[in-house]
Amino acid sequence: MIFAANFKTNHTRRSTELYIDALNKKLGAKSPEDKVYIFPPATALDSYEGDFTLGAQNAYPAHNGAYTGEIGLEQLDEFDIETILIGHSERREYMAETQEKVAAKFAFFQEQGFEIIYCIGEPLAIREKGFESVMKYLLAQFEGIDISYEKLIVAYEPIWAIGTGRSATVEEISSTHRALKKAINEKPLLYGGSAKPANIKEIISIAGVDGVLVGSASLDADSFSEMILS
Ligand code: PGA
Repeated sequence: MIFAANFKTNHTRRSTELYIDALNKKLGAKSPEDKVYIFPPATALDSYEGDFTLGAQNAYPAHNGAYTGEIGLEQLDEFDIETILIGHSERREYMAETQEKVAAKFAFFQEQGFEIIYCIGEPLAIREKGFESVMKYLLAQFEGIDISYEKLIVAYEPIWAIGTGRSATVEEISSTHRALKKAINEKPLLYGGSAKPANIKEIISIAGVDGVLVGSASLDADSFSEMILS
């Protein structure tokens, strides 16, 4: 299983260090086939020791240059970062990242050989229209994306389940993952959206779920390690 922690705009450099110290104390007990990823904010990127992969929540698709406020490949290379989240619904919505921009970013980081956790998800209004609408919406988020890329991991995150405390139901996750797995040629597929210690066992036991992308419940090292060790 894959357990990925997305801190979003939470934690500082100092608190990330403390978090990683606390997490490392627990990770010795995880099973060797489980893989842990941590995506701290850009200011907390560093070279940390531990049984996990550090990734970037976002970066601009350029080596370096005049992109005020952004970080590029040069800043990621400093810490040997080779994993990135692309297409998160918060970036699509709040940062107005269009599918075209998302696809350009994907192509750039694919070219660099990065491992990409590519996020897709539908809003509530689409979910309420039924399964067919959901799949149509989700598949459109693969426009311009090379799904044959060998370092691709997909994260299905229904927007209405993100940060709301209300995860999708087992049936919703199960049917969506079944259809998505086919569409992405059985690439690893994570679920995200209010995954937490209380529902982790149920979620990871669903066929077609290869792991979780966790926001809120990953912010506390005890809570995240409880999920990993569950
Ligand atoms: P959440 O966020 O776990 O707080 O719902 C998940 C995500 O956005 O990756």
